Amino acid sequence: MFRIRTALPLVAVLATLTPAGIALGATNLISNPDFASEIDPWWEVDSNGAIQFWKIDNGELCSMIRNPGIEPWDIVIGINGLAMEAGKQYEISFVAHAEPARSIRFKTGKGSPPYSDYFLKEVQVSTSPETIAVSFLNTVEDADTQFQFHLGGATGTVCFDDVSVKLVSSTPSQSTEPYVSPSKTGHPLREYKSVVGIGSAVDANLLVSSPEHNAILGGEFSGLTPINSMKMENLVPVRGAYSWSTADVIVDFATKNGMDVHGHALVWHVQQPDWLEVGSFGRDEMIQIMQDHISTVMGRYVGRVKYWDVVNEAIHHLGTDTKPDYSAYDYRSTIWYDRIGKDYIELAFRSARAADPAATLLYNDFGIEVQGALKSEVVYELIRDLVGRGVPIDAVGFQMHLMTNESIDFAAVRRNMERYAKLGVGVQITEMDVRIPQPASAEDFQIQAQMYRDALSACVTAPNCDYFTTWGLSDNDSWIPKWFPGFGTAHLFDAEYQPRPAYHALTEFLDTYDTASPAAEPPAKEPSPTDSSTKGSSADPGPSDDGGGGCSLSASESGARSNWMLVLAGAILANIRRRRLRS
Ligand code: XIL
Repeated sequence: MFRIRTALPLVAVLATLTPAGIALGATNLISNPDFASEIDPWWEVDSNGAIQFWKIDNGELCSMIRNPGIEPWDIVIGINGLAMEAGKQYEISFVAHAEPARSIRFKTGKGSPPYSDYFLKEVQVSTSPETIAVSFLNTVEDADTQFQFHLGGATGTVCFDDVSVKLVSSTPSQSTEPYVSPSKTGHPLREYKSVVGIGSAVDANLLVSSPEHNAILGGEFSGLTPINSMKMENLVPVRGAYSWSTADVIVDFATKNGMDVHGHALVWHVQQPDWLEVGSFGRDEMIQIMQDHISTVMGRYVGRVKYWDVVNEAIHHLGTDTKPDYSAYDYRSTIWYDRIGKDYIELAFRSARAADPAATLLYNDFGIEVQGALKSEVVYELIRDLVGRGVPIDAVGFQMHLMTNESIDFAAVRRNMERYAKLGVGVQITEMDVRIPQPASAEDFQIQAQMYRDALSACVTAPNCDYFTTWGLSDNDSWIPKWFPGFGTAHLFDAEYQPRPAYHALTEFLDTYDTASPAAEPPAKEPSPTDSSTKGSSADPGPSDDGGGGCSLSASESGARSNWMLVLAGAILANIRRRRLRS
């Protein structure tokens, strides 16, 4: 995260940001950083009627904005030719002031068509000169990267000086201070590894820029899942050219800190590279692409990545995102399903087993936690069929994206875990977060804490559930505000890295176990199961408000068909009403 310090020398700001591994004296990639006598080679463009006049004033580059345009970003000031390497940590810093105060943006990006952003940040600039510094992981190798400031929004003046973009380090910034856990029990979450693994999802930018984040990550958690760095668009943006640097940084951090890695996600329909989306590949070529991807990625991390989400979110309601139809579920239409057919799932798992026979292979999905919910039934039948036919699926990942304002039946979650155990299939909670409609009240945080606790309790008491992972460590790496507008504050730590009641609920729950006891042993003090139903809900609507409906599958179903039809028949026999979408 960026820090702003008034009247502090630059070195002090950098030292605050990255106590370890600062390459002071590293080359500044900006060729005219201090505007001593000329503006060149900086350039400017404006759009939407924005007009600025610029000049060097008192050794600074000052923009006088006469017409701010329509967007606050209509004036762009840029410089080309920064040779930046992927997988390395860079520090951008500059001094700025504005009259009146305003927010501005700065970015790195591709400077030729198709223009794109590599890193973009919005910051507040006040009337007195301040040093703004941000450290980030550069993920794109580009010898001609462009750096830009974006201005506008109000008439007035904005001045810049001492602009620098420097290579800082290629390793995550780690605090040299010993970690002090905020746990009131005296034991951080990871000390209960023998009871249950507790994981956090990790955003690469934070990993290389925030010692505070990393101290908590390594100090509290026994495992991690890369949030985006192992998704196909990031690993293989160009066909055949894998870009490992960011994923490697995360895996190395885990190795150094004795943490398990949960790889995410090999076969999914989101965040796929353009070459794959637009390419017209037939079935055989798609199978080849999928198998090559699985064997290449898993092969690289053999022995270092213990769990893999092999197939993610393959089952979907009928209808579209804008017009969902929850009355039935089927294979989701994706490039994998559409181009290969339903057997892409088993082909994927068989390739994964061959690529790393020791890894735990998961099918991962949302809205499949509660037994009785239509999607849970459909996914259960899918897994039962696949496992019954010898497809190597070791576990099912319940994502558990919940919200405080809808209820979830945790007794049904426990039953769901149990029935997978009977199949000989493990379960994990893989992406837990509990979003709260904003603004959040103190009561909301209590409800949230109870839901986290109930989910952990369900996992710990199920003999087949060995991992509980939260999707984002703090509000700083939250996907919630962007994906669920109006919601937020979903994580164990807030944006200041302070623990929420939910964090304490987890440590207090685990305190009923011995830090050294294996999960299968009964706890010293088993908490009473007051948690059968808590307010909150899964991302996918649960069954409680409607009683169900029908489920459907493609007409070409064969062996598995009878199982699915049983579910269908059950639903019809129960004469349950059609599902309706919760508001
Ligand atoms: C989300 C990430 O958190 C976002 O940063 C990204 O823009 C979209 O994907 N289920 C999954 C995750 O399996 O990969 C998703 O992660 C959240 C839902």
